Amino acid sequence: MARKRVAILISGRGSNMTALIEAAADPDFPAEIALVLSNRADAGGLARAAEAGIATAVIDHKGFSSRAEFDAAMDKRLRAENIDLVCLAGFMRLLTDGFVEGWRDRMINIHPSLLPLFPGLHTHERALEAGMRLAGCTVHFVRAQMDSGPIIGQAAVPIALDDTPDTLSKRVLTAEHQLYPMALALVASGLATVENERLKLHADVPADLGGMLVGPAFTG
Ligand code: GAR
Repeated sequence: MARKRVAILISGRGSNMTALIEAAADPDFPAEIALVLSNRADAGGLARAAEAGIATAVIDHKGFSSRAEFDAAMDKRLRAENIDLVCLAGFMRLLTDGFVEGWRDRMINIHPSLLPLFPGLHTHERALEAGMRLAGCTVHFVRAQMDSGPIIGQAAVPIALDDTPDTLSKRVLTAEHQLYPMALALVASGLATVENERLKLHADVPADLGGMLVGPAFTG
């Protein structure tokens, strides 16, 4: 089966992007990273992508008078590059309903909490304030409402009593880097689809991909 052409959308350092690029360096990985697109020219991830030989593009949202025009410019670029799947990886812009609908079930996102808990910003602060004993991360298909949509995979990370947002975010980030490539592999290989707004996993999902919920590998 041909590898799916993936675009990664970033706004910052791009550590999840790097994890995806590294996973896709394996010729057996079912997706290739065809483009890294940033809304910010100063995103650290752009240089890392270029170093890895990946095509990069900047579409600065500040150059557009509306979200719809910005999203249309991104959409045009993605389609010009024959992109099959879009991965949001720390892409910090709200997307319009039209853009989200245009990539329905072909766009996934990673968020550093166990959704539907703590969508939006300052997730780790809020998890600590709530006295949670578990944190984690979620990869999901993207829907119009921020950080929502059918969940593909989650990794749980225990919270230590002396955790700070900083220490917790570092451990969750380690789990994100493991979870995101697994979730992308599931989607790109067609083993993970959506049915009635819930994840549908194909019967042939290999044990090492299906077992991504909680495990020693994810406790960091
Ligand atoms: C990651 O922790 C990602 O989960 C989060 O931004 C960070 C980006 O880091 N995304 C969101 O909060 C989306 N709502 P990275 O640029 O190093 O991958």
